[in-house]
Amino acid sequence: MTTDTTGTVARDGDSRPGGPADSPFIRACRRRPVPHTPVWFMRQAGRSLPEYRGIRASVPMLESCRRPELVTEITLQPVRRHGVDAAILFSDIVVPVAAAGIDLDIVPGTGPVVAEPIRTAADVERIRPITRDDVPYVDEAVRQLVVELGDTPLIGFAGAPFTLASYLVEGGPSRTHAKTKALMYGDPELWHALCARLAEVTLAFLRVQIEAGVSAVQLFDSWAGALSEADYRRFVLPHSTAVLSGLAGAGVPRIHFGVGTAELLGAMGEAGADVVGVDWRTPLDVATGRIGPDKAVQGNLDPCVLLAPWPVVEAEVRRILEQGRAAPGHVFNLGHGVLPETDPEVLTRVVALVHELSSRRADQG
Ligand code: CP3
Repeated sequence: MTTDTTGTVARDGDSRPGGPADSPFIRACRRRPVPHTPVWFMRQAGRSLPEYRGIRASVPMLESCRRPELVTEITLQPVRRHGVDAAILFSDIVVPVAAAGIDLDIVPGTGPVVAEPIRTAADVERIRPITRDDVPYVDEAVRQLVVELGDTPLIGFAGAPFTLASYLVEGGPSRTHAKTKALMYGDPELWHALCARLAEVTLAFLRVQIEAGVSAVQLFDSWAGALSEADYRRFVLPHSTAVLSGLAGAGVPRIHFGVGTAELLGAMGEAGADVVGVDWRTPLDVATGRIGPDKAVQGNLDPCVLLAPWPVVEAEVRRILEQGRAAPGHVFNLGHGVLPETDPEVLTRVVALVHELSSRRADQG
């Protein structure tokens, strides 16, 4: 590691001009000038792609996450097809939790289902700390991908303590997060012990990915929007901060994302993010006012807009690029993941449109 003149840590070997650290995506995360606004899509590797469905037809979800050659192939599919500015590692937020010893499965059409939900202090102890040796397939897949991707940056990711805790306490997906909140309000000590353990697992999981070569990380707190700002600050922020601030010296930008987080955007930035992900409910100029001038934003096309006729998509892309100009850095993305019924050709057209509308001549900076 070396420290560059802007005070940020540059990773050895990848800061050459044209390398991933100099890519439009990483430059936008760092609030530096870009040749065009970079674009990638949450859930770009997945069910909208026939080539993905082909691979997954005979392999269960968790098994596909544990086979490096499949992870590599699935991660590369949207890069080849759409020309996105970043790849995101094919995995799932529950992969490290399973590696930590929790019996769970990802059920098609449902999501993660936990065999014995976490409800007591003894249950929390069942979540073991993890090391690289618990997730060798992630380490291997990232190393293969970094070679295959060349100058295209690879994003690593993990689930944040609140979102992971929700799956573990509920036992599966939940609309209200009622059991999770009952534990949070009813037994704060147990809640904090659970989230502290999950933060430890998440931090270790992200460190494995960074050591193996990812160029950025995204912390998904998808369901944090279920909380008021006061409760978020009291029950969640310390644990997400433990993860993000634990990576402060790692030399890669940290993206922090959740859904329905209009009231939490400032706090989510404070947790130690370089980039805050914004869903479609908050215009990016308003979001920037809440997040502050020292962070970039990512977002925020409503994934459902991609199901509308092209002129609607085009008008929305234009609006978002315009509002994104208020931010000191903008990574174009959806406000949440790609829906499985999305026509992949529309995604390819969005990438081309974002690049075309945002491309700047070098002399314009
Ligand atoms: O973004 C990408 O392209 C990388 C892949 C990725 C997956 N899961 C693959 C996946 C990422 C980043 C995730 C993160 C994830 N997983 C989150 C946070 C992001 C978000 O959407 O808010 C959450 C909450 C989960 C938990 C989870 N896993 C859900 C809700 C589901 C969908 C259940 C369903 O079938 O509708 C999964 C399964 C999952 N993870 C799939 C994929 C491609 C679908 C599995 C399949 O193909 O059958």
